This record gives sequence, C-alpha cells and structure tokens, in this order.
Amino acid sequence: MSHRIGVIGGDGIGPEVTAEALKVLDATGVAYERVDYDLGAHRYLQDGTVLPDEVMDEWRTLDALLLGAVGDPAPGQSAPAGLVERGILLRMRFELDQYINLRPFRVGGKVDFEVIRENTEGTYAGEGGFLRKDTPHEIATQGSVNTRMGVERCVRYAFNKAAGTERKHLTLVHKKNVLTFAGDLWQRVFDEVSAEYPQISTGYDHIDAACIHFVERPERYDVIVTDNLFGDILTDLGGAVAGGVGFAASANLNPARTGPSMFEPVHGTAPDIAGQNKANPLAAIISAGLMLEFLGETEAADKVAKVTADPTRFSGSTTEIGDQVVAEVTAI
Ligand code: IPM
Ligand code: MN
Repeated sequence: MSHRIGVIGGDGIGPEVTAEALKVLDATGVAYERVDYDLGAHRYLQDGTVLPDEVMDEWRTLDALLLGAVGDPAPGQSAPAGLVERGILLRMRFELDQYINLRPFRVGGKVDFEVIRENTEGTYAGEGGFLRKDTPHEIATQGSVNTRMGVERCVRYAFNKAAGTERKHLTLVHKKNVLTFAGDLWQRVFDEVSAEYPQISTGYDHIDAACIHFVERPERYDVIVTDNLFGDILTDLGGAVAGGVGFAASANLNPARTGPSMFEPVHGTAPDIAGQNKANPLAAIISAGLMLEFLGETEAADKVAKVTADPTRFSGSTTEIGDQVVAEVTAI
C-alpha cells in the first residue's frame, strides 16, 4: 500500500533539509506518493497566500505531512511576526488535532529521553486580547486553556509511551507552585491516570528545576509530559543538551488518526545559512523516520533509527550527510 505524503519544504533551510529526508525515505524502499505544497513566508511575500482552506481540506485526505520549517526565508526578508507560524503550523496542529508533540532526544545512549508536549491548548490556544489598546491604560491578557479532555488524552498517551520503555518512568513537568489552577488540573489528571499504570514509576519537577536537570543530569529522565509552552521551551533546551538543535526531531501526532500527523525538525528556518548547503539535515531525517514508524513501516523506521542512533557522528555538508545516511540505510 502506498502512502500519500504531503511535503511542505517551507522557508530558509526547510527545503534543503527536507530534500535529504526524502532521499532517505526513498532509500528505505517504502512506496509513497508525494504531494508538494509551496507554502511559507516566501509564498506569502509573493502573493499573500498563507494556507488556503482547499489545501487544508486536501491535507485531511493524506496519510502524513512532512514539513521543513516556516518563517523568515532570508536575512531582511520577513512576513509579519508569527503570521505563517500561526497560520500554517499552529493551524495545522489545531485543525488536524495533532494533540501530541513527541520530541525524542537520543545521542548514542548518552542522552536518552523524550518529551511529550501537549500540542493544542495552553497559552497557544489564543485566548486573551487587548483592552484600551494603544492608550496608556492598555491591558493585554493571554490565558492558558487547559481542558480536562485535552490534558487527559495527553497524559494517557504519555503513560502508554512510558509503558513501552525500559525504565518505565514518567515525569510531569509544570509550575504548579505558581500556576495553581492549570498545574492542579495537570497533577490531578496525572495521578488519576497513574493509578491505572502501577508498573510505571512517576515523578514531578517544576519547569525551572527541570531546566537545571536537563543540563546537569539528563539521565534523571525517561519520558516527560508537559504543557504546550513549557514543552516548547524545554525541547529547545533538550536539543541543546543532546548535541544541538540540528539533531532534534519531532512528530505532531493525531493518535486517534482522524487526520494526518505531521513530522518536522524542531529547528527553524535559519535564514543566515539558507541556500549554502550547510544546514544539518539529521533532524529532518530523524523526523521522517518517526513518520515511517507512525505509518506502520516498522522495518524501514528501524533502519533509519539504527543509522541515526548517534546522529553526532555525521559531518559534512547538508547533501553529504544525506548521502552518508542513504548509503548506510541501503547497506542494512
Ligand atoms: C516549535 C516552534 C513553534 C512553536 C513556532 C514556530 C510557532 O517553535 O515547533 O517548537 O512554538 O510551537
Ligand atoms: Mn519551539
């Protein structure tokens, strides 16, 4: 069975790293049909297009989406701040109900943990607004939306994930000492679901403490579950402690499979090095491996995971690294 995969290279280094990910996908021999979408800030600057509704409808019929990065395409070139990030990336996550953002961090056994970030709620939900804008008495509020349903489905996913690891340890990361409403709901739901998983040991860390542990003792962690904004920040740090954000992959999953899941590197468009064959394609390649796994292409996914188990051992230009991975995947 051939998978229909939507490809959004996007802006900056996005298309370059995505090309390498597709090369690796081809090398696995998995049959797929590729549907390309020319979207991103460069497209917005060309003709004002962000994400047409028809494209969104078409995406619903696909099996998966592979994305490079969207945002500033080149130094000095930018769409209004956050326009394409919210208009493409966040819209996709929300409307396709990709409620899990799975970000694994692995460097050849030295660093090995994964963050499960809630991907549809929290401060990202867009609740808030201005009062008396542009006056000295202006007020800006930005709420955090936490539904029991949204928290529970994320926490459940995390317990299931932890059930499949060797250490079977799950840590909730929040800031419940200060965020007493949202944090309380997260902890209560976490404890309730925990009762169903007696084989999983659990822990809790405040987000600020977790940042220290990430740097000083990442081995403390196996699986982490956290909210949208904490997860966003913590996974950039995760990338930094696991060899660099150039290795950090992510899967935006709709585990209920009511729509396609989306796979993308954690990094952005890196306009300063765009078009120079310098960007590290490993995050995009590992993301494509996560896609294969989610599509049930276990054998192909295992090959990519094996070759990229220690991504820090590769060096060279974007295309050279892609070629090395292709050669090793083909040789298995
Ligand atoms: C990420 C990115 C996005 C986010 C931005 C581009 C909206 O930083 O995927 O981590 O904040 O989720
Ligand atoms: Mn981020």
